[in-house]
Amino acid sequence: MNIEDLQPTKIVVLTGAGMSTESGMPDFRSQRGLWSRYNPAKVASVDSLENHYELFSEFYRERMKALRAIEPHRGHRILAEWEQAGKLHAVATQNVDGLHQAAGNKNVLELHGSIRSTRCHQCERVQNEETFLRSTHCEHCQGVLRPNVVLFGEMLPELVWNEAVKKIEEADVLLVIGTSLQVSPVNQLPYVAKGKTIYINDEPSDYPFDFWINKKISSGLSDLKKAWG
Ligand code: APR
Repeated sequence: MNIEDLQPTKIVVLTGAGMSTESGMPDFRSQRGLWSRYNPAKVASVDSLENHYELFSEFYRERMKALRAIEPHRGHRILAEWEQAGKLHAVATQNVDGLHQAAGNKNVLELHGSIRSTRCHQCERVQNEETFLRSTHCEHCQGVLRPNVVLFGEMLPELVWNEAVKKIEEADVLLVIGTSLQVSPVNQLPYVAKGKTIYINDEPSDYPFDFWINKKISSGLSDLKKAWG
């Protein structure tokens, strides 16, 4: 069987940072990825939030500001078109940039949270992005502000996780796009799939996918759009 014959009606997509590189956002583990310039333990962990707050808050403020100039690309829009056509049932993403929603997807499961909103690390009150860009402390309790992302050392949102597992189990095709599958527990999700699995990535993976589209993501998704409508 080849990919063109699949004609899926219950696609679920699992994306990583590679999904956003063609929009101009760096990923993490490619040569020019963020982790070649920053140590994640120093800028994206609970320890960095609690013991290196200046470095932590600067890292996220820079990413929030960079996002203002970023738009979804053709690949994001294809996923939104498939959801509107009723053939894509959910996007489970590790990305915190909100680009799937910006492209029009409604059923987006943000497994690692979102950089598009912030909260107080002490009283948990949600505060808007502007507040975090302007100051670093909560106006209610003077606690430290942080983006609503899942930091290294924190648990993933349980309801979001459970919904992603359920959707992947129900899918007839799981598209795994732009993720190196290095970080658990998300790297366990492809094993939950009961349907066909397709990997769109410009480097190989050890996971036994049914198909590997070794192309740039927007081009790989355009090919699937031609084959599946
Ligand atoms: N086309 C195809 N593949 C691409 C493209 C592209 N345009 N751009 C990047 N890739 C591939 C890279 O080769 C790499 O295999 O996408 C993958 C991105 O992997 P990572 O940078 O490791 O990103 P991700 O898998 O999302 O990281 C998971 O790690 O640091 C944490 O919380 C962070 O959510 C993130 C998690």
